[in-house]
Amino acid sequence: MKDITIKTSATESVIHCGQGTFDLYAPKLKEKQFFVVTDSNVFAIYRHLMWQTFGGDFPVKIIPAGEKSKTYKYLVEILKEMLKAGMRRNCTVVAFGGGVVGDIAGLAAALYMRGVHLTQIPTTLLAQVDSSVGGKTAVDMDGVKNVIGTFYQPEEVIVDPRFLKTLPEREMRCGLGEIIKYGGLDENIFNKLVANKNNLKDFNFLEDITYDCVNHKAKVVTEDERETTGLRKTLNLGHSTGHALELYYRKKSHGEFVLIGMYYELYIAEKSGICGGQYAKDLKNLILSVIKKPPYYEDIEKAAAFAKFDKKNDDDNIILIVPKSLGQSAELKLSLENYVSLLKECV
Ligand code: NAD
Ligand code: GLY
Repeated sequence: MKDITIKTSATESVIHCGQGTFDLYAPKLKEKQFFVVTDSNVFAIYRHLMWQTFGGDFPVKIIPAGEKSKTYKYLVEILKEMLKAGMRRNCTVVAFGGGVVGDIAGLAAALYMRGVHLTQIPTTLLAQVDSSVGGKTAVDMDGVKNVIGTFYQPEEVIVDPRFLKTLPEREMRCGLGEIIKYGGLDENIFNKLVANKNNLKDFNFLEDITYDCVNHKAKVVTEDERETTGLRKTLNLGHSTGHALELYYRKKSHGEFVLIGMYYELYIAEKSGICGGQYAKDLKNLILSVIKKPPYYEDIEKAAAFAKFDKKNDDDNIILIVPKSLGQSAELKLSLENYVSLLKECV
């Protein structure tokens, strides 16, 4: 068990990482008023653990599992349930689930009585390595991802790999998507991934690499919490294309589209002379070791048009964070036409 701290101007977040952290820290939550937000799948699997930890009739809002619940409608339902349960200003919202639960519960914590305490208990690999840390909260609206949200740091994050044991294969791939993203930004993580490429789902390996990813993110968030200097933008490697495909095709999940977005953006980076050589080959092989075959999409130009909604864009151009070299990414600005034609070449 190891702790990582993120200090920002207004808050300090402590991230407890490793096996045993849930048993050590979660029971302490019931010493104060708390409200759990979870989803239907997580509740079905972990309700006995929740009862054991929080008591028999703890206050909870269970949203339907999946991205479709990351909406204003469910946000309002959570807030109404909190009010009905008599939550006070010093209560703690406990986000017990994957990235969807973390994002919406985080926003509810930021809004209720102008802000209450927040603890994240991430239960997917993706949420453990990325979304539970750093304070981005959001819901989607009118088909646009994360368009309503705020930065709101959790005071505590409990990252216990015990939850990965029940995670479906597909969700493992989603988490590996974000882990490989960190590999594109951090030399140490990349080298570990390449060295363990046949072993990426090993429980002990995941515990170790999760710590490295959280550590990388903690440093970035400490320096650039609100994405003002540009450093935090790097955490969006592959995401411009990933989000655009996610909005248009919808069939896959966020993490899977991040991997596919990285595959395409690596091609664009190579074509633009930014990335190449053995590094590009190793990165492509890592991505392919998870997605298995090169992605193919009909209508890529229609999907690519959704990249114009990306929050990184500052004018009509598309901004991509692309891989450059070991531990380095680069920002690439392209007109929508150029971006679409490069993508069409790649599929
Ligand atoms: P998710 O929350 O929908 O979880 C995926 C599925 O796994 C769901 O069906 C869920 O019920 C199930 N699940 C969760 N934990 C489980 C467990 N331990 N065992 C079995 N099943 C379990 O999706 P996700 O991939 O965790 O998160 C994706 C979301 O995170 C997206 O909305 C994305 O935009 C957001 N995100 C946010 C940030 C951020 O910084 N805030 C970063 C990355 C992604
Ligand atoms: N997942 C991107 C970020 O937290 O900034």
